[in-house]
Amino acid sequence: MDNNEDYNKNLLEFERKIEAEEKIEPRDWMPDEYRQHLIRQMSQHAHSEVIGMQPEGNWVNRAPSLRSKKILIAKIQDEGGHGLYLYSAAETLGVSRDQFVKWLHEGKAKYSSIFNYPTLSWADIGAIGWLVDGAAIVNQVSLCRTSYGPYSRAMVRICKEESFHQRQGYEIMCDMMNGTEDQRKMAQDAMNRWWWPSLMMFGPTDNDSPNSQRAMKWKIKRESNDKLRQKFIYKTVGQAEFIGLTVPDPDLNWNEEAQHYDFGEIDWNEFYEVIKGRGPCNKQRLETHIKSHQEGEWVRDTAREYNRLKQEVKKELV
Ligand code: 3HC
Repeated sequence: MDNNEDYNKNLLEFERKIEAEEKIEPRDWMPDEYRQHLIRQMSQHAHSEVIGMQPEGNWVNRAPSLRSKKILIAKIQDEGGHGLYLYSAAETLGVSRDQFVKWLHEGKAKYSSIFNYPTLSWADIGAIGWLVDGAAIVNQVSLCRTSYGPYSRAMVRICKEESFHQRQGYEIMCDMMNGTEDQRKMAQDAMNRWWWPSLMMFGPTDNDSPNSQRAMKWKIKRESNDKLRQKFIYKTVGQAEFIGLTVPDPDLNWNEEAQHYDFGEIDWNEFYEVIKGRGPCNKQRLETHIKSHQEGEWVRDTAREYNRLKQEVKKELV
């Protein structure tokens, strides 16, 4: 069979699997565009988890109680684990973790825009858990059905922990809204600063998304950016109202006919400025990541040397 015939035969089998909701596994044939799409999305997802540790890490030493400190440390550790889990899943596509990190450091790979905003008060830690992890859950529950096996299984595991993240954030916001006038003001201020950047987490509108059409065709993305954004708004507005927080959008309005909320215009100029590296904290986030990666070189060297010696001993014993 010539190459062309081979390619078409493999493509037909790949498309049959996608249609039949069968997972594509690392050893399966896949179109290179499918592989490249997943390398991009999964590695950027992993970067987001790890860089997302920084804004929250900023408050570990300033947590208001031992209990809240323990919860925050547990959450940050979870995020690091999610990153490692996603790097491992992404490596099954044939690219090393070192290469992913190199692309990040060279500015050739993105991470979620949301992590380029500062955490100015303890209420920000509540807003991040409740809104940012809440948005991540909406996106990641949908990704549990993604067509690539390792990614789908990683999502199932990660979503279980995200629910705890979202709950602990909402608890912080509840406590503050049941607190003093100053605490209520602090919670509302955090809501005002984190609401719109959380909506931006779902990406540009469906009309402006260059990757969505392909992602939906290959069932990498199961629901569109706008659909997931709507799901998040629908889920969150009631929670805000229940504890007395005001959603900072005067155009937010329940549309009975459409059965969803109409909402105001997202500042897409801000979104593109942030994802082009010109957000409030982009420079600091990347510099911190590069510095800690360099400082951690000795750990990676030690682990590699340990594995090399272990292999040598194994050979000796055979
Ligand atoms: N931040 C940074 N870049 C973004 C973005 C955001 N919020 N939204 C979109 N983009 C980028 C895309 O990466 C793409 O750029 P690229 O082609 O150079 O990669 C461009 O903007 C166009 O966007 P598209 O919608 O066409 O791109 P996608 O189809 O990839 O959809 C996405 C974007 C919805 C973010 C999708 O990539 C996705 O679902 N990724 C997995 C989930 C994820 O990464 N979540 C990030 C948060 S992780 C997190 O919150 C951790 C939690 O524990 C706190």
